[in-house]
Amino acid sequence: MTGTMTAVQPKPTQAIEGAILFLRRWLAHPLRMGSIVPSSKALCSRLVKHGWPEDGTAVLELGAGTGVITRAFLDAGLAPERLVVVEVDGDMVPYLRATLPGVTVIEGDAKRLQELLPERFRGRIGSVICGIPLVLLPLADQKLFTGAMETVAPGRGFLQFSYCITSPLSGSKLGLNPKKKAWTPFNFPPASVWRYMPID
Ligand SMILES: C[S@@+](CC[C@H](N)C(=O)[O-])C[C@H]1O[C@@H](n2cnc3c(N)ncnc32)[C@H](O)[C@@H]1O
Repeated sequence: MTGTMTAVQPKPTQAIEGAILFLRRWLAHPLRMGSIVPSSKALCSRLVKHGWPEDGTAVLELGAGTGVITRAFLDAGLAPERLVVVEVDGDMVPYLRATLPGVTVIEGDAKRLQELLPERFRGRIGSVICGIPLVLLPLADQKLFTGAMETVAPGRGFLQFSYCITSPLSGSKLGLNPKKKAWTPFNFPPASVWRYMPID
């Protein structure tokens, strides 16, 4: 995490645009968004720390929103070519593409990861960050997302941030081993970072 890359920061007008966009999309789809504001810098830095990929591999982020986590990886020195993000909201995607040059931005439902992931990333995903609020979904849907992540990044598990005090996902029902990696009060609401690893 000591790279020399400097991320392209959004212009002040783009940053304001991003905050307004997030709120607007939350009003349209509160459950799909799961949060009224983007993740804080404090939460993003914890995700970067625990989600840093091994050399030669890439980070896959699901539910990029306005790209605050992606930008934190770039700020920490990850090359944009090593980042691939999936976002279902068609209003967010142009914003992501405009403010994250070089990052691969895929528009679509992350349940369809296997077909959406470009060929050049296959077998190269070293770290998965799930920003989709899986806790709000029925178990059957949670299984579709966790299965999709396991298919494109076998054995890697994934990081999930959550505002819950206990594990937001049932490890026993999903065949995953949950471990709390971090917590920060400096987020709205205060948030934890969980790592879920597949149980062999
Ligand atoms: C809590 S927001 C997180 C945004 C950003 N990662 C952050 O931390 O500020 C959840 C994001 O997941 C996206 N999302 C929800 N369901 C999705 C799905 N099935 N496929 C891809 N993205 C999805 C939403 O549109 C939203 O941008």
